[in-house]
Amino acid sequence: MKFLQFSVLPFLMVILSVSGANLTHHPHRDFLRCLSLRIENSCTITYTHNNPSYPSVLNASIQNTRFSTPTTPKPYAIITPRKTSDVQSTIFCSKNHGFQLRIRSGGHDVEGVSYVSQVPFVVLDLVNFRDVKVDTKNEVAWVQSGATTGELYYGIAAKTQTLGFPAGICHTIGIGGHLSGGGFGILGRKYGLAADHIIDAKMVDANGRVLHRKSMGEDLFWAIRGGGGNTFGVVLAWKIKLVPVPPVVTVFTVNKNLEQNATKIFHRWQQIAHKLPNDLFTTVWVMKVNSSQVGKKTVEASFKGLFLGRIDELIPLIQYAFPELGLARENCTQMSWVQSVLYFGALPIEPVEILLNRSALPRLSLKAKTDYIREPMSEAGFEGFMNMFLEEGTDLAITMMEAFGGKMDEIRENEIPFPHRSGILFESVYIVQWINEEDAGLCINWMGRLYNYMSSYASKSLREAYYNYKDLDLGINNVNGYTSYEQASVWGLKYFKNNFKRLVRVKTMIDPTNFFSNEQSIPPLLSP
Ligand code: FDA
Repeated sequence: MKFLQFSVLPFLMVILSVSGANLTHHPHRDFLRCLSLRIENSCTITYTHNNPSYPSVLNASIQNTRFSTPTTPKPYAIITPRKTSDVQSTIFCSKNHGFQLRIRSGGHDVEGVSYVSQVPFVVLDLVNFRDVKVDTKNEVAWVQSGATTGELYYGIAAKTQTLGFPAGICHTIGIGGHLSGGGFGILGRKYGLAADHIIDAKMVDANGRVLHRKSMGEDLFWAIRGGGGNTFGVVLAWKIKLVPVPPVVTVFTVNKNLEQNATKIFHRWQQIAHKLPNDLFTTVWVMKVNSSQVGKKTVEASFKGLFLGRIDELIPLIQYAFPELGLARENCTQMSWVQSVLYFGALPIEPVEILLNRSALPRLSLKAKTDYIREPMSEAGFEGFMNMFLEEGTDLAITMMEAFGGKMDEIRENEIPFPHRSGILFESVYIVQWINEEDAGLCINWMGRLYNYMSSYASKSLREAYYNYKDLDLGINNVNGYTSYEQASVWGLKYFKNNFKRLVRVKTMIDPTNFFSNEQSIPPLLSP
């Protein structure tokens, strides 16, 4: 006992002094005492409200400023672990002292689920788990959850120009949330999702066990590859298979507005984009822009593409398959794959070190929704859609329509939990953003109307949605108490289709007491 007191006291003092806590009894402080007794590592820091760094640590990776207002519920503490044992300790202490645990990697959750909760909670922020180890010989990498996609892309490109990784466009997304929810990007038609390329993982479960693929078993390994983060445990690192890319790729952009036949060209695009060769990914971004008539606005459809080859091959291919686009040489640029990531992120392609800058993107308030489109929209239907961007509240609205087909068609719906595969023409990601809080209602209302409008065109029997752009309007778990399978199915089936049942079975097996829970975590079945 003497030894224990002697050994933990300095760490207790470090944590309590950093957190600004004092030693008088308080239920919440039992949590801090618990941590201080278990974390023998002064580098892992626990921040509470009293600590001057608390706001900056909390806000550091909040991408959606809608959830960083004074009224947003704040975590009792933020723990930034450096060792696996500190993650185990945080789970142990949260569980024993009645705190919900929210796991944050890159903080891009569009509903703020990684750092907001309606019940007392703490945030486990994996910002210090950001190693990227690339093994070009075996074409694999181990990447920790707190790294960003940009850091991964940069780490690969620093070693080779002929390997890449098929993940999302934005370079500040965290690996932890992105891989655990799927991960679609510009290499998606060629190779599928980021989650399709996970070959091992290291995670800590609700009992503090450290698991790898072998020890967690294939059911759990299946579930964490797209079944959602913060449901099954804390994934600390992922082993991923890299994919071949040519040293030179071609990107292009052709902008067409309402007065330039945008609707006709789009109509053709949706009929052929999913059938183009797998080496060609195309996407259409719809947004409001200035018209050529001074003081007027119009709506633009920006047709963008990535071709895994050179301009000389691309031009005849498009001229044959999609002449309506009118692609010209001057619309195209050759570059490396890693530069193409920056191009699609609307950033300068040099220097590529910008991929390491976690605050390179503006942070605004936003609301997102998604659809999967299986039947072509009529020309009039698409025109009506574009016209909605002329309404109020749309100054910072964008829709990204991303062609599917190719490899996405070939992977079975139940291969991993992400089920939106064969037969999808394109994924539609609707985002509305605003700067002033007073515009929130207007913008969110518009988003609701846009989503209603698209109900005629979206997948019919079940309106599918992409879990990585969470939408709490689809339904949420009960804040306190049990959520039934039926209740959770309302949103669960939209995200996961028939895979939802298996996810519930895995959840029941690995976390029957539902320690890892949030608004849209998979609920366990009640024990008989
Ligand atoms: P964050 O840290 O907020 O976590 C998201 C969710 O995962 C939370 O529920 C969290 O608790 C959980 N989680 C995080 N780390 C975990 C871990 N280590 N273990 C267990 N659970 C964990 N998507 C896409 O497919 N393609 C794209 O191109 C883009 N682009 C894009 C741009 C922008 C600006 C935004 C805001 C979002 C996207 N996305 C996207 C969506 C993105 O993939 C999604 O929001 C990811 O969940 C973000 O992961 P983070 O780690 O950054 O989020």
